[in-house]
Amino acid sequence: MADQGCIIQNNSIGETVMSKRILGGLGLLLGAGLSAGSALALEPGDPQRGQAAAATCTACHQANGSGMHVPGGESWPRLAGQDAGYIEKQLHDFKSGRRQNASMMPFATMLDDQQIADVAAYYSQMEITPASGGEEASDAVMARGEQLANRGDWDDYIVSCSSCHGPGGTGVGSEFPGVASQHAGYISAQLHAWKDGERSNDPQNLMGAIAKRMSDDDIAAVSAWYARQAPVVEGGE
Ligand code: HEC
Ligand code: HEC
Repeated sequence: MADQGCIIQNNSIGETVMSKRILGGLGLLLGAGLSAGSALALEPGDPQRGQAAAATCTACHQANGSGMHVPGGESWPRLAGQDAGYIEKQLHDFKSGRRQNASMMPFATMLDDQQIADVAAYYSQMEITPASGGEEASDAVMARGEQLANRGDWDDYIVSCSSCHGPGGTGVGSEFPGVASQHAGYISAQLHAWKDGERSNDPQNLMGAIAKRMSDDDIAAVSAWYARQAPVVEGGE
């Protein structure tokens, strides 16, 4: 208590130290999100315009934004109900080459900044759809997945997924996407991409650091577990 009082009273130095700390941590996360949408004179994303701009996306992401689990192939992520700011950041990252994927890059490239904001608004207001994959996971595999998701594994220095992706993995703000009710094939593809250094567009290597500590079995388990979580409506609206 005495120490805390001292820091608060010693305001100019204390505040500088505090704001540096905050800048070093959360500030970088927010900065990464903001710079993605920082183009001038953009109108707020409009779902109706977004629907028109998304005409080519449905081939893979489907008309209801559900995406698809493709066993043994490249799965298409669910976009329905994902945070608009997160979707925007990913599209800018594909466009700039910060995030690499041969299937997705041409489609991100043909959108301008306004269309990116519009399709993000369009998908974010769709109802979250159920995911597939992991149906054959044993009880033991599901238990391991649940452990990693909700409690982590301190023996392997794996922080719980929920500490960033939120309780139930439904996502937090624009920085931490929802992973519950996402297709197992997509979740595991992303974790492997981070583990192998093929995806590196995350702020401060937060995901890379975790994926590198996960075994292939861990990745399969947590992907199956999240895919099998029922869609949760955020905020209960
Ligand atoms: C040919 C299939 C295909 C088409 C068409 C397509 N996508 Fe994708 N999309 C993918 C794949 C595959 C991924 C996952 C890429 C990866 O593994 O990094 C993806 C990923 C994404 C992501 C990242 C999702 C996340 O959770 O990080 C967004 C956003 C996205 N697509 C939006 C779009 C939009 C908007 C369009 C239309 C303009 C579109 N996609 C068209 C295949 C496609
Ligand atoms: C320290 C914070 C943190 C923890 C812990 C964490 N993540 Fe993430 N995760 C992130 C961030 C930040 C992103 C977004 C990266 C970006 O902006 O491209 C992300 C993205 C993802 C994505 C990509 C989602 C998409 O739609 O593209 C998956 C899948 C994922 N995390 C799974 C997990 C799993 C599984 C765990 C637990 C084993 C986990 N994460 C733990 C911070 C974290």
